[in-house]
Amino acid sequence: MYKIFETVDEVSRYTAQRLLDTILAKPEAVLGLATGGTMEPVYAQLVGMLEQSAVDLSRLTTFNLDEYIGLSASHAQSYRYYMGQHLFDRLSLPRESVHLPDGNAEDVDAACRAYSTAIQAAGGLDLQLLGIGSNGHIGFNEPHTDFSCRTHVIALSEQTRRDNGRFFSDQSEVPTHALTLGIQDILEAEEIMLVATGSKKAAIMAELYHGGVDEALPASALKQHHNVTIVMDSQAAALLPRQEEGGAA
Ligand code: PGA
Repeated sequence: MYKIFETVDEVSRYTAQRLLDTILAKPEAVLGLATGGTMEPVYAQLVGMLEQSAVDLSRLTTFNLDEYIGLSASHAQSYRYYMGQHLFDRLSLPRESVHLPDGNAEDVDAACRAYSTAIQAAGGLDLQLLGIGSNGHIGFNEPHTDFSCRTHVIALSEQTRRDNGRFFSDQSEVPTHALTLGIQDILEAEEIMLVATGSKKAAIMAELYHGGVDEALPASALKQHHNVTIVMDSQAAALLPRQEEGGAA
């Protein structure tokens, strides 16, 4: 299903409300969380909604999608730091309920295996939130990642390193590798929401809309899932057929 709104604000409110509804319907829900510029206004909205509704978060569990390799937890661009800043430090969520891949693990392969296993042991993801890279990546699953992959180490593409360079003071500081949940882990979520905003996502969203399932476009794996909502603002949806606007596909 495609949901298209005029503004980023509307997209963010809709997405935050869906997250809140999931928590209200199932206080012990397991949420798969994403980072990136797209999610900043979503988390700002969610924090506001949670403050107003006094929802009990004590039984919630979260797993983040990905993390850079080699950045300390206190590095301002690590995803652990991002999540603290935008969400976790602003909510009364038990720290032991929050999980992120460990980009500094001594044995990264063991850490990857343990991460996918921990999600399964928690009962699986009820809702996986996703952004999308301008090259179609979800999590850090870059083009041509095997769709059967579970949590793994990935070499970041030059495109991704350039896109994310805007958050670093110098392009050379952008890590070359990351840990990411695999496409297989993502597809096992009960429900998936992919959020895309801004004109830089227009071309890839049109490719995703028109194309088939293809490992060259990781987000196309979502076409194999039974419960996906793709939420866009008018800029990201600018190259989609007009009848999609405001409607379902
Ligand atoms: P962005 O990143 O929200 O910063 O555009 C999305 C992604 O790379 O998945």
